[in-house]
Amino acid sequence: MVVCICKAVSDRDVARAISEGARSVDEVAQCTGAGTGCGACRDSLACAVQGACPGAARSERTAFQLMRLGVRPALAG
Ligand code: FES
Repeated sequence: MVVCICKAVSDRDVARAISEGARSVDEVAQCTGAGTGCGACRDSLACAVQGACPGAARSERTAFQLMRLGVRPALAG
């Protein structure tokens, strides 16, 4: 699924960037180009980053958004 329409970046591209070490929206943007156009996707990028970083605060809404992105949240325990 395309996450960033401006740069044609998919959820898999974002997940790959995170798995390779991106830990912020700016780092994901640097790796993929996502979020560097209109900026409309930056909230979705933030959700993906929060889900991939252990200890990051997540709400139920964020978890739902992550599922829509195809990102498997890191579960504690
Ligand atoms: S949709 Fe990602 S920068 Fe516009």
